[in-house]
Parts: sequence; structure tokens; C-alpha cells
Amino acid sequence: MNAYTVYAPLLSPVSQSKFIWYPDGALSVDELGSIAYAGSRQDLPSNLAALANRSTSNIVAPGFIDAHTHLAQYRCRGRRADNLLQWLKRYVYPEELRFAEPGYARTCSLDFFAAMAQAGTCTASIYTTSSAASTNIAFEEAERSGLRIIMGSMMMDRNAPEALLQAPPIAIEQASDLINTWNRKNGLLYYAVSPRFGVSCSEELLKACGQLACESDVYIQTHINEQREEIEEVLALFPASPSYTEVYEQCGILTNKTLLGHNVHCSSAELDIIQNHGSSIIHCPEANLFLGSGRFPLEDYEGRSIHTGLGSDVAAGHSLCMLDSMRAMAHVQGRGIHPFIPLYAATLGNAHALRLESITGSLEPGKSADYIEMRMDDSIIGNWNYAELDSEEIASCIVYALKEQDIRASYVAGSERWRNHCE
Ligand code: GUN
Ligand code: ZN
Repeated sequence: MNAYTVYAPLLSPVSQSKFIWYPDGALSVDELGSIAYAGSRQDLPSNLAALANRSTSNIVAPGFIDAHTHLAQYRCRGRRADNLLQWLKRYVYPEELRFAEPGYARTCSLDFFAAMAQAGTCTASIYTTSSAASTNIAFEEAERSGLRIIMGSMMMDRNAPEALLQAPPIAIEQASDLINTWNRKNGLLYYAVSPRFGVSCSEELLKACGQLACESDVYIQTHINEQREEIEEVLALFPASPSYTEVYEQCGILTNKTLLGHNVHCSSAELDIIQNHGSSIIHCPEANLFLGSGRFPLEDYEGRSIHTGLGSDVAAGHSLCMLDSMRAMAHVQGRGIHPFIPLYAATLGNAHALRLESITGSLEPGKSADYIEMRMDDSIIGNWNYAELDSEEIASCIVYALKEQDIRASYVAGSERWRNHCE
């Protein structure tokens, strides 16, 4: 790749309370796709000013990160049910069964990654189905998309349709093969051992998952404490455990690379356990609204050192666009939320949750050039110009006013993965 510079307004997180904002900024990308410079145009070193360049009035910001979503559910969004367990049975399991057909798995995977790039998501953590062949196809399409993808085959050995279940030794053997083929391939792909949740995984399977993830040093992703009925069922299935979190702790699946989806109903003693193990919590606000799971208690995390990420959770969430998840995250709290909080969650916060903060999540020299361009047209910016607005005001316009169509381009490692060519 040839090194280049983009002249554009730049916004990037430093922390949950600080973003840098250069209305007249420059981003330089080196031959390896890393950021060589991100700052004001005025201070751009002359050797970088001499590179091939382009200019845009679109805002350049780090690519969004989606810390929890389901590839195989893209085609069953919007089907409401009375609760999580009924929704899985009625809509999700039948759809996941369709992925046994390789042609279907291929088409859906292709569509999914195209939609993801178009939504401005450059990095994501994704569940596939329990079919290893379909997961292999999904990885092939992930590789082709050029996005940064953590992904794993869903694992279940009870309480789901027979054709989606696997005996633990078979599930582990298939996951090991997928790890050998895909984990850390091309510097963009990672494997996540993905036991679905306590209802559909036996103690034997959960323990085997924990062991495999530790031996192979890969991620684990699963669901926890999403709905009351689910929690009751898990406690009935694991009578020796006082809480859902302790089921996972005792089976060895709480690691510092574990991503726990939802966690809506969680005691402070459980949060202590999660914090001690260094596992991340992934908040999925759209899904919690859709399935009536309850409000995620954001305030319980204040003063704690738990990384909390943000996920679209398609298909319980209807949209792959993190702008929708950010707004939902703010709105479900029922009080005004500072725009940095959701915008940080979908960028650098998620990079921390996924332990990728040294690689992505902000525009900083040395990190991969994973960025998006967002249009802010006159209907939002009005008669103001960028130089009159501060970082908080720009973040506020992004979080509370932009929509998916305002994402104009997505780049990973400095290369264009998607661009809207219509004006
Ligand atoms: N719990 C177990 N599986 C799922 C799933 O596919 N979606 C959601 N939202 N929760 C789950
Ligand atoms: Zn999920």
C-alpha cells in the first residue's frame, strides 16, 4: 500500500471524558496501514505533507466496534416474542438450522459483512452457528471483507433442537480445528470459543470450553444474566451454584479475554467476581429493549475497573449500525447522557473490552488506521462551521442526530473496505 494523508475534520477519544477534535485536521497512514500522524493540519510534518493526499469535509473518526452480534441472525430481525427463551425457540434456532446448507451460509455471510462495513463497523465480535462448516464459510467471508473480526462457532449440548447440539468432545475438536485455521490469521481474525449460555450448555461442555480457551489463548464469549426466566432456569440446571456468575466461574470460563453479553440482572457480589477475573461485560441496549429484559444498570459500574463494551446484538437488536446502539444506550438510562459516554463505548471503550486497545479504537500514531468518514450535512450543522463547535458538541451531533446513511466510508488498516459513491 502507498502511504497517504487525508485532510479532514478529526474526532478521536482519549478517555470517557476527553476527545480530541481538530476541525482542520490531518491523518497520515504509512505503507503498513498504521497511523503515522493524527492531529492538526498545521502541525503535520513536511515529509507527511508531501505524501499523496485527499481532502474531505466528512468527519474522520475511529471505526466503530461492535462487541456482540450474531451473523446467523441477520435475516431474522424484528420478530418479537414474549421472552428470550420463546424467541430463541420460535425464530432463532430455526434460522440457525438453515446454515447447515453451505450456499445459504455463504450468501448470508457475504451480506452480513457488507452490511457491517456499510454501517461503519470496522471491528466486531460475532457468533456464528454450531455448524463448523458454516463458521468456516463465515471466516472466509470475514477475510474477504477485510474487517477486523473476532468470531466463533456457537456451542450447545442441550435444550435446543437436536441438529444444533454437539457432544462436548466433538464441539471441542471442531473448535480446535477452526482455531488452528483462523486464529490470528492476517492480523485481522481471531477466534472466540462461544458456549451459548447456561441453559444450553452442560457443565462438561462449559469446562471443556474454559480449558480450550486457556490452552489456545483465545477469547470466550457467552451470554449471562439477561432475563429473570433464563436465570431461574440456569440455577435449576446448576443447583450447586448460588449464582449464574458462579456457574461460569466454577467451570473456568471467566478469563481476562471473556466477553459476557447482557448482564442486566447482576448482584454486586457477582460483579466483584467478574471484576476479579478481568472479564468484560457487553451491554446490548437494543436487545434489552426488544426482548423486555430490563434496564442495564450503568451506575453499578461507576468506580469499578470492569471494562464495559457495547453490542448491537442482532437479531435481538434490529440494526448493525452502532449509531443506533449508542442512542439506545443513552435513552434507556432515562436521563440525559453525556455524548462522550456512548461514543467512547463504541470506539475506545470497546477496544479495551476486546483487549485490542493497542491496535484500534482511536486515531493515534502506531495504531492501525481503522477509521470511518461521517457526513454532517446542513440539516444538522446549520449555519455553524466546525471551528465554532467543540468536541462535546460534535460528539453530541454524531450520537444524537446522525443515521446510518451518514456513514460515507469505512477503512481498516488504511484500506478502503466500503465507500458510498453516490453523493
Ligand atoms: N441468550 C442465548 N442466546 C442468545 C441469543 O442468540 N440472543 C440473545 N439476545 N440472548 C441469548
Ligand atoms: Zn447475543
